[in-house]
Amino acid sequence: MPGPLFSPLKVLMQNFVFSSTRAGQKTMRRSVQRTWSEFRFDGNLKYQETHCTLPAQDHKLMSYRAPHLAVDFLSDNFSGSRGEARVLDVACGTGWIAKLMVELGFKHFVGVDGSQGMLDQAAKTGLYKELKLALLGTEPLPAQTGTFDVVIINGALDSGFAPVSVVRELCNAAKPGGFVCMSRGDHSGTAASEYKKDLERELQLMEEEGLWSPAGLNQTDRYMEDPHLSSERVKELPAEERYISGTVYLYKKSIHSN
Ligand SMILES: C[S@@+](CC[C@H](N)C(=O)[O-])C[C@H]1O[C@@H](n2cnc3c(N)ncnc32)[C@H](O)[C@@H]1O
Repeated sequence: MPGPLFSPLKVLMQNFVFSSTRAGQKTMRRSVQRTWSEFRFDGNLKYQETHCTLPAQDHKLMSYRAPHLAVDFLSDNFSGSRGEARVLDVACGTGWIAKLMVELGFKHFVGVDGSQGMLDQAAKTGLYKELKLALLGTEPLPAQTGTFDVVIINGALDSGFAPVSVVRELCNAAKPGGFVCMSRGDHSGTAASEYKKDLERELQLMEEEGLWSPAGLNQTDRYMEDPHLSSERVKELPAEERYISGTVYLYKKSIHSN
């Protein structure tokens, strides 16, 4: 039975059809915005607003672990100066990634998202030096080549969201020697599993092209609570069956690249 995630994804995918024209891009932007508003008000998917209003230590007790997994893994592998590092938070949503990273000493954030509503929420954190509206896949990533010490994307590399081609743009935005941290959950369905295969093929190809090298891979069985489950079903299931798996991919851009 389709869960609450199903209809927003479907709306997004349908709207990609229109996204090659200017009018289509506007429609698509509105659609992403509406879709994520629906997400936030959905009884079973209230992650976005819940996590923005709770202190960080409480997040660890909750089911949506994805931003913590990405940020902690990046932090464990990052050896540069956190206070000076420039961070590009792609698909920043409400700004949760920056909220976690600032606690670990990072200070300089630029955010990008396809939804103005999300950017408005992110602005309220007061953490971002700049926030840019761009619907990735139809518009280029608004970032200069080779400017960021860290490029991070959490929760948007999936079918109906940011296409796989975006990972080249993420790499392009990083400084030579900079990190690209990409985190995604294994949602159910053929489109999601095809996306994962395509993504991993592209990551490998970019490695073979000498654009970057792998700096770490963190696979987990508890990426986030399965958003396809109804709240009733969640209560019935033992903890280990409530979660979907997921992966944090960490790459270091080649020092010979641009
Ligand atoms: C699950 S939320 C994750 C937000 C944030 N990264 C976090 O970890 O809390 C996914 C975000 O991706 C954005 N998004 C989805 N597809 C996008 C696209 N093609 N271009 C830009 N942003 C997109 C949505 O607007 C939403 O803010």
